[in-house]
Amino acid sequence: MRPLRLALCASEVTPFAKTGGLADVTSGLARFLGQAGHDTRVFVPLYKKIVDSGLVTTPLPGAQAIDVRFPSRTMRFSIRTARLPQSEAQKSDAQKSEVPVYFVDCPELYHRPGLYTEDGDEVVRFAFLCRAVLETCQRLQWSPDVIHCNDWHTGLLPLYLRTVYAWDRLFAQTKTLLAIHNIGYQGVFPESQLDAIGLGDQRAHLHHGDLREGRFSCLKTGILHATRLSTVSITYAKEIQTAEYGMGVEELLQTRSKDLVGIVNGVDYGDWDPATDPLLPHHFSADDLTGKQQMKAALLQRMQLPYDPRAPVFGVVSRLTSQKGFELFSDSIPVFLQREDMRLCVLGSGEDKHEKYFQWLRDTWPNKVGIYRGFHDELAHWIEAGSDVFLMPSRFEPCGLNQMYSLRYGTPPVVRSTGGLADTVAPWDPATGAGTGFPFLEFSSHALSGTLDWVFRNWRNQKGWKQLVKNGMQQDFSWQKQGPLYVELYRRMLGAGAN
Ligand code: ADP
Ligand code: GLC
Repeated sequence: MRPLRLALCASEVTPFAKTGGLADVTSGLARFLGQAGHDTRVFVPLYKKIVDSGLVTTPLPGAQAIDVRFPSRTMRFSIRTARLPQSEAQKSDAQKSEVPVYFVDCPELYHRPGLYTEDGDEVVRFAFLCRAVLETCQRLQWSPDVIHCNDWHTGLLPLYLRTVYAWDRLFAQTKTLLAIHNIGYQGVFPESQLDAIGLGDQRAHLHHGDLREGRFSCLKTGILHATRLSTVSITYAKEIQTAEYGMGVEELLQTRSKDLVGIVNGVDYGDWDPATDPLLPHHFSADDLTGKQQMKAALLQRMQLPYDPRAPVFGVVSRLTSQKGFELFSDSIPVFLQREDMRLCVLGSGEDKHEKYFQWLRDTWPNKVGIYRGFHDELAHWIEAGSDVFLMPSRFEPCGLNQMYSLRYGTPPVVRSTGGLADTVAPWDPATGAGTGFPFLEFSSHALSGTLDWVFRNWRNQKGWKQLVKNGMQQDFSWQKQGPLYVELYRRMLGAGAN
């Protein structure tokens, strides 16, 4: 079968611009597709942060000084390009294939302090990204088989393709996939902004219920117009079609149910393997866990906490938002901090109330709790490696990568059984020696406390614990396994009729 031409469009890509799992998924999938021989190109904004990092990019010939016309103003961009770096594992692979990243360079839109803003032109920033992808394809006369959009930021692209670019035969066979990573972010803006993004005369193609209420949603627009829809786990694909998890999009999704599939994210074990992880000073594998003890000691020293091999270390690495379920901690964690000899290492940033809560824990139990507020990639790897238990009590979790990382790093996760957490963590059963972690179903402090009791009981039986750790480390969530599911989906889409 011929290789595919694939455009991956996203607002984040590791290692250049990351706030969460989307970045890792964009790069992991792109690397897989490139390695599998597909002509894969990644499109992301050239954020100020990337420029400041000193990354060397070069102008892409044929894609310079391109004007995008919106009714009220014309803005210009150029594409600068760099190769997606190989992960450690791929470096040794003779068949390595390097994927180009096309950075959309438009300083007036992307030179802001963060990746995302609350500025009045936020929708313009990402509508522009969609337009820039299509304009670039035109300039290069490159006709993608599939444009793989991700989340609301690229949700308008399928509509632009159907309207503004409908005349261009270059895209006659092009299909679009909208991958939903998180239905909690929908890109909803006042209807009055439609003119600014050149969709003022396309109201008939937008979600009518929203328009009646004076707004439009980039995510819903994508759901209406993409050839196919995907989301990042099998359970989440079902959940988002229910009122409990659909966040108001459930009914629209139900109408496209047959076009929606769930594919659990892959893990890039080139970046996330404790045997080779370049960010760790000590390495380990399921056969020899000596390095894990050393990582535990190193982590505790770094977090200024006393080391005791018998005291389990609980780790948290997370965006601190209501999605992640940390409000369950307030009636559970303090009880355990009082009662048990344990450590808690937290890395996170986000809502002030969560940051303050963790700071309060730290101030109250300075010998048991360590916290780093902010984003710190290396520390994230250390916490995965040096902890004994990973905590992820999410209210909802489309897929979740951290629980899969923690499994590979010998750190059994405590998870609420929802979305991808339900698909990737199997309950530990000491009687049979099967299972990989500690899922609980009910979203309550009570359920979390009961699960933590269960964790401590199992921790005291170190023989069983070793088996549990080993089970987790042997799981395979690699892109080599998950990536082919996307390729099958793309090929099915090509067989589909209209785009
Ligand atoms: P989400 O995308 O909802 O944040 P995931 O579990 O899919 O959740 O992915 C989170 C990713 O972001 C992981 O790679 C994790 O290590 C990383 N991460 C989250 N918070 C931080 C932080 N404060 N510092 C470093 N990495 C972080
Ligand atoms: C989102 C979700 C997370 C998922 C990630 C990558 O940010 O919250 O569950 O793993 O996207 O798909």
